[in-house]
Amino acid sequence: MIEAKDLVRTYPGIVALQGISFEVGKSEIVGFLGPNGAGKTTAMRILTCFLPPTSGSARVAGFDCVRQSMEVRRRIGYLPESNPLHWEMRVSEYLDFRAAIKGVPARDRKRRIEESCDRCGLKERRHSIIGTLSKGFRQRVGLADAILHDPEVLILDEPTIGLDPNQMREVRILIRELGKDRTVLLSTHILSEVEKVCKRILIISRGQIVAEGTPQQISEQLMKTGRIHLEIRGDGAAVKKALDAVPGVAHVLWTQQGDLNTYIIDPKGEDPGPALLRFAVEAGWDVVEFGPERLSLDDVFTIVTDGTRLVRREREAARG
Ligand SMILES: Nc1ncnc2c1ncn2[C@@H]1O[C@H](COP(=O)(O)OP(=O)(O)O)[C@@H](O)[C@H]1O
Ligand SMILES: [Mg+2]
Repeated sequence: MIEAKDLVRTYPGIVALQGISFEVGKSEIVGFLGPNGAGKTTAMRILTCFLPPTSGSARVAGFDCVRQSMEVRRRIGYLPESNPLHWEMRVSEYLDFRAAIKGVPARDRKRRIEESCDRCGLKERRHSIIGTLSKGFRQRVGLADAILHDPEVLILDEPTIGLDPNQMREVRILIRELGKDRTVLLSTHILSEVEKVCKRILIISRGQIVAEGTPQQISEQLMKTGRIHLEIRGDGAAVKKALDAVPGVAHVLWTQQGDLNTYIIDPKGEDPGPALLRFAVEAGWDVVEFGPERLSLDDVFTIVTDGTRLVRREREAARG
């Protein structure tokens, strides 16, 4: 439904997108996750025909975002990052004005506005002045606007930014609801956000896609560090000395908290796991935990969006 191919976008003195490619299938809810300045808004503005790419191409529902922008706009509902609303207008007036701009035929407008308000939980607020609404309700007005012309695709740029936790949860539920019969691409810089709403994540950093997949797949791809995590109660120094001497162990990082010792073990060549475990049992160590080192999805996000750490990790991995 959405196809971006080698999208490059430069601004004077800066390359905001360095050639990103991705696809979003029909009825998928996909999250664009990345820190501020990663290029999320730029990519979304290209998809919604507000900004031409410097090079590369984007298609929505088969139509080219540059050459067939009218066709694309008809099929896309867009909630921009700042959600610019007319604060002095009533919700229904504003939506009527927006429906006219979007070319919703006059005879359908009343019905479309009612349907959009119903779906976005605005039934009782239809006649309120926008400026008197809470931020959560204003965001609902933005979403109602996005679905006015009944588009197949929704592009939502940081839809929960600035909301309190309750409002966030409500808007999240609403997005999931709207996504049941639509394709959704949403952006956020909050990790927990995408995990809750999206089936698939594209992690974007410095204008590049650095990881892609389900939260589970991303974890599996990136959390495998090849290192072993060992926790032992007792005489830490003696264990450290013994570990250093085990064949297949390249390096041991030892940290201590009370009588609990944690060791992160870098292997040399073959997996020293089985040998280590046998060794630990024979030596009678009080093993609390033993297994592959696990990173949380949070750690992974920090690593992949922080270029220097990523490069360092790649070098470490290349060294084996
Ligand atoms: N209109 C613009 N003129 C110049 N630079 C811009 C403009 N819009 C965005 N940028 C720059 O492009 C990069 C990507 O920005 P943006 O797409 O807004 O990222 P995000 O939405 O992920 O925070 C940033 O470095 C930003 O400063
Ligand atoms: Mg942005």
